[in-house]
Amino acid sequence: MKTPRLGVNIDHVATVRNARGEKYPSPLRAALLVQKYGADSVTIHLREDRRHIIDRDLKEIKERIKIPLNLEIGPTKEMVNISLKYKPDYVCIVPEKRKEITTEGGLNLKKNSEIIRKIIKRLKAKKIRTSLFIEPDFNAIKIAKKINADCIEIHTGKICKYLNEKKNIKKEYQKLVKSIDLANNIGLEVHAGHGITFSSAKILSKINGIKEFNIGHFLIGESIFIGLNNSIKKFKKILKK
Ligand code: PXP
Repeated sequence: MKTPRLGVNIDHVATVRNARGEKYPSPLRAALLVQKYGADSVTIHLREDRRHIIDRDLKEIKERIKIPLNLEIGPTKEMVNISLKYKPDYVCIVPEKRKEITTEGGLNLKKNSEIIRKIIKRLKAKKIRTSLFIEPDFNAIKIAKKINADCIEIHTGKICKYLNEKKNIKKEYQKLVKSIDLANNIGLEVHAGHGITFSSAKILSKINGIKEFNIGHFLIGESIFIGLNNSIKKFKKILKK
């Protein structure tokens, strides 16, 4: 089986920058280094409130990196227009609530399928690979296929949290495996992301059928101690199995 790709989410470089209102640390510099150190793509989330990545980061990063840019957006008119303007290689549509600390769960496709179907159509017309961030849920996976998503990204937050808290993951793990199988069987490319650490990556990388991991908070945090290069290399080694 092919080694899954590693997308590195650099949002939290911008979080540190914005904490002081300075120009450093620079997300562009992080994106270029992430590319140099062997990541397969760079992920950024342009939030409605611009709490980390801002429009200028998106523009600069898109202009300068050679590996694919994966832009995470909420399903809003503003974000779709921005995506069509800057044409990232990939878009991942995520739910977004202003008050959340991070993306708390997957999209509610039961409720929003028509809006999201139209967004997918517009993005795919510009040849942007479109992914939907969802929970490991059979219904959501079937709807994602029905509304023409290219890929799904499974929200791994719950299983990663259970692992951090040393709780039993058996049920969550089974749910993940079955969901990933279903998605692959109906022709969706499967990605995984949220809350992944070195130890959860070791467990998740053993599941067949995940083509891409998107990892941010832990990887950037770990870089403070071991450097961005080593943090990326260590994740890549784990994903290689
Ligand atoms: N994938 C998606 C769709 C996300 O929204 C996020 C968080 O922005 C991530 C991956 C990365 O999660 P983390 O920062 O917890 O590694």
